[in-house]
Amino acid sequence: MNSLLRQQILDLQSVSEKLEPSGVKLENYFSRIHGFSHNYLDELKTKKAWVNKDEPNVSDLNLKTDPSLENVLKTFKEQVIDQGLVPSSGGHLGYIPGGGVYLASLGDYLAAISNEYAGMVYPSPGAAAIENNLIHWMIALFGFPKTAVGNLTSGGSIANLIGITAARDSKQIKGDKIPKSVVYVNKHLHHCMLKAFRIAGLEDLDIRYVNLDQNHRMNPEHLDSLIKADIEKGLIPFLVIGNAGTTDTGAIDPLEDLGKIAQKYNLWYHIDGAYGGFFQLTETGKEKLKGIEMADSLVIDPHKGLFLPYGIGAVLIKDASAVLHSNHYIANYMLDAYEEDSFHNSADLSPELTKHFRGMRMWLPIKMLGIEPFISCLNEKLLLAQFLWESLEERGFQMGPKPELTVLYFNWNFNENSEINNELNRKLLEEILKDGRVFLSSTIINDIFVIRVAILSFRTKLSTIDLCLEVIEEAKLKVMEMAANEAMD
Ligand SMILES: Cc1ncc(COP(=O)(O)O)c(C=O)c1O
Repeated sequence: MNSLLRQQILDLQSVSEKLEPSGVKLENYFSRIHGFSHNYLDELKTKKAWVNKDEPNVSDLNLKTDPSLENVLKTFKEQVIDQGLVPSSGGHLGYIPGGGVYLASLGDYLAAISNEYAGMVYPSPGAAAIENNLIHWMIALFGFPKTAVGNLTSGGSIANLIGITAARDSKQIKGDKIPKSVVYVNKHLHHCMLKAFRIAGLEDLDIRYVNLDQNHRMNPEHLDSLIKADIEKGLIPFLVIGNAGTTDTGAIDPLEDLGKIAQKYNLWYHIDGAYGGFFQLTETGKEKLKGIEMADSLVIDPHKGLFLPYGIGAVLIKDASAVLHSNHYIANYMLDAYEEDSFHNSADLSPELTKHFRGMRMWLPIKMLGIEPFISCLNEKLLLAQFLWESLEERGFQMGPKPELTVLYFNWNFNENSEINNELNRKLLEEILKDGRVFLSSTIINDIFVIRVAILSFRTKLSTIDLCLEVIEEAKLKVMEMAANEAMD
């Protein structure tokens, strides 16, 4: 009986062993992946940022077994990499570009190979220490008190969700209080915040859109008067959300003034710095982000401002008890991992329990390169944005405000009729994307269609911006020709 069981186990083992390749097979995998990655980085130098296929081909991305890594890599290249947006390209100047610094990918690789778990100190004190050190580095960078806590999340959306739930719990916004509660925002706040309200059960609260100035920044006097009026009406103002760089326009709200008003009325102050927060590392950014230290909760995104691959955001919160309320739990099956001082356990500060050891991708490049190259890269982006804005203005484009950081927008005045002009500027963007050497995106500002440029890829260089200007000029001429032909018809 026992020998039969042994044989059954060994039979299964002969198949399950495939999950642990070794020897020549392992070497073969390594060398092919290594070669593939290096070709990828080589090709990136000349590759378009946007490859538009009328009919994307994704036919071979099914789960049919194919043991040949050669085949799989070929399919991956043709059907994943060679179509759509190329996020790792320096020509990615749309939305908010991400990064992908090489050493971060090696950090990810080591994290995945070792599968260390950083959520708790008990099973992996080293991994937890790496993540805690990163959090404490950010706490110091943003002038938060040493008692603040933080968490490395999957990105800005979850980081903002954690901030909003902490605000809710700290101010005890629940039950009957929700429909009477009011939050004050910039109409350009990121939509993940609106999602966060719904997820956090706050859908029924009132949202007040504070007037903006010409540079799309919240007007503090208007905020003050809105709060006053709401208090007089018997409502419960509880949260002010400021932006350290909006996605739409890159505007930085007057963070210090908003902070003073939040303090005056005892409101929770949340700042979304997912896009612009890490400019705090630069002299220019630090000056512009003055007041960021006043936030009760702050979101920053290393997969944007530190050029890391997608999948790492961060939230810092001053009042630990607010974030522990929703996220700290003692389960019987985890009593042996529980410690008195659970601030060291990131699992107690986030809805996530088991998660990728994402701190490794941030720690490895900073550890090996120091922070200087990141600061130079941020400064370089600030100057590139200024250079592009000035160059476009010189060429006669209608410009949005000078970039606070590295987002700017523009359009061309093809036609006096605003609807026709919007249409022609849509065509301008279409032509830019047809070319594909750079990728830009658009937004609507006060009913006007504008083209945005967001410079945050570490691979965007002066040559990329020269190329961008060339592509925009060529596309503009095409649209002018198109419009002239249509007028003649
Ligand atoms: C200002 C801002 N907040 C939040 C987010 C959401 O972050 P994520 O996409 O990492 O979830 C973004 C994304 O671009 C953003 O620009």
